[in-house]
Amino acid sequence: MTDRLAKQAYIDAGWLEHENKTLFANAWTFVGTVHDFRQAGDYRTATCGNAPVCVVRDKQGALKALHNVCRHRGAELLDGANGNCGGTITCPYHRWSYAHDGTLRGVPNKAECFPGLDRSDLGLFPASIGVFKDLVFANPDANADFDLWIEPLRGREWPHDLSAADIGEATPLTYDLKCNWKVFIENALDGYHLAYLHENTLGGPLPGLNEWQPAGQHMVWHATENGVRHRLSKKLRDEAGDVGIVKSASRPGYGGVYYLFPATLIVPTPYGISVSALQPTAARRCRMTVRHWVGPWQSKDERTYVPGYDSSTGIISSDNWKVHPLQTGDFQTEDIWICEKVQRGLESPAYVHGPLSAGAGAEDAIAWFHSALRRHVT
Ligand code: FES
Ligand SMILES: [Fe+2]
Repeated sequence: MTDRLAKQAYIDAGWLEHENKTLFANAWTFVGTVHDFRQAGDYRTATCGNAPVCVVRDKQGALKALHNVCRHRGAELLDGANGNCGGTITCPYHRWSYAHDGTLRGVPNKAECFPGLDRSDLGLFPASIGVFKDLVFANPDANADFDLWIEPLRGREWPHDLSAADIGEATPLTYDLKCNWKVFIENALDGYHLAYLHENTLGGPLPGLNEWQPAGQHMVWHATENGVRHRLSKKLRDEAGDVGIVKSASRPGYGGVYYLFPATLIVPTPYGISVSALQPTAARRCRMTVRHWVGPWQSKDERTYVPGYDSSTGIISSDNWKVHPLQTGDFQTEDIWICEKVQRGLESPAYVHGPLSAGAGAEDAIAWFHSALRRHVT
């Protein structure tokens, strides 16, 4: 497959810098949900390649996406993953302050320090925002077209409703993964490993029982009637009975995994729905934030039993595993284990790409992923 990425794509810092400039600089990144922004000044931040961005709710209730970078000397403005900034976005360095729409309002000691300064030239640079099924995405490119990006998923939405009374958010999980971000995405798109690596957890299905369908730049994974979705639905019907989320999630036609280009994975199941956002932190490392909404009968705090959770840092890492990953009964841990093993193998001077298995439920999606990336990173 001539379109396959070279192995340098997984190990070179220069390649990641190239991705940051040509892919993430105008990519849609998951920021949060509309329910995270309840009051004026509520904000969430994200890093899109090299660009810190933020989404803020204004006094009228509208959400704005802005570059989270002060127009004076460039300090990052809003702090942490989320918070409330009050009536203005105020820079901690020299206290320039901006309205929620990014307009520059206050400049301390303006008369002495900046005589003649025209504030109207120095508003925060706008970013783009889009909302789909209550999920909020931002793009550093002020002219990005959200509808064009999301349109292929319209009509194939998952039935879960994040504002429903029978669905609640579990504690978010943050993973530090010792692999290139694409290794993790490729594993998520790999239908060939499900019955083998996950023999003791997911246990399948075999490649013929599931398929990936391209949807624009995205991919939707479906299990066939005899595949995972059918089996999970029956298990859940037995366990949880007549709960709203189960009934709606039993509706046929939606996928079991949605891959949103380039680095978001959405997994709706009869148990709930999760959104995982991957962010490269180095060529050989990435950070994954997982938000998870579940039914009322389920634990809202998985941290107590997720292998590798460190309560002092709040980070989940293979450094903290106490038992072998294949003995944890946790398929996510199995995936992390194999992704970190793949990363180490890719770095071997002896490694060259082997063949990808053919078929819509096997590794075809990986070749497709590389073709999609090639359109951005050449
Ligand atoms: S860098 Fe923000 S006010 Fe100076
Ligand atoms: Fe897996």
